[in-house]
Amino acid sequence: MNSFTTPVITIDGPSGVGKGTIAQYLTCKTGYHLLDSGAIYRALAFGAAKNQLALDDIAGLSKLAESLPVEFKATSILYAGEDVTSKVRTEEVAGVASQVAVIPEVRAALLQRQKAFSQAPGLIADGRDMGSVVFPNAEVKLFLTASAEVRAERRVKQLKNQGVDANITQITQDIKERDERDLNRSASPLKPAEDAIIIDTSDLDVNQVCQKAERLLWDKGILK
Ligand code: C5P
Repeated sequence: MNSFTTPVITIDGPSGVGKGTIAQYLTCKTGYHLLDSGAIYRALAFGAAKNQLALDDIAGLSKLAESLPVEFKATSILYAGEDVTSKVRTEEVAGVASQVAVIPEVRAALLQRQKAFSQAPGLIADGRDMGSVVFPNAEVKLFLTASAEVRAERRVKQLKNQGVDANITQITQDIKERDERDLNRSASPLKPAEDAIIIDTSDLDVNQVCQKAERLLWDKGILK
């Protein structure tokens, strides 16, 4: 890293693998900024519904993506000034987000906006294509994996803790459908960057993954 570049750490992987928790943890450890790129796609899905845009309206969705009125304030997501944090966190919005995310024009329209998050003292970027497309020169690239079944179990546990009743069969199916779209789209499919460090989290709890990721940042000289 030369002294003029802002260090970026990317965390990619499929839905429900725990990227968000690891990203939050590393953000606290480093004091860097955080980009939750999935929240941008979720906000676009929310905006599409609000503006009654069809999911095959490529021109309309790209136009909305170009000037998406989304803002991040601490842990809240604002859409045109309205706090939509819980509204965009639903499985339904996630499903629509993964459908708008397959459109190359939409991804292109959101690229600059994501790159702009790279500011001093550094950035932790969480998503699907952070290391492969948005920040190809990132200092450290992590790619988390776990089977769809393990991810669905974790999601159900998380929803139960929030008092939400969840059906494991349905959640597993939703996760597999999203995986299918994320893996097989032509624009920025979900895949590790060539220089990514792959962490299989199937047999690790969240603390163990946090420790592993933190150790890597010490080894790379990012934490001192
Ligand atoms: O990460 P999260 O589940 O919030 O993302 C919602 C959807 O947005 C994902 O299923 C994926 O299809 C899409 N996405 C993406 N590229 C990113 C982040 C999210 O395609 N960098």
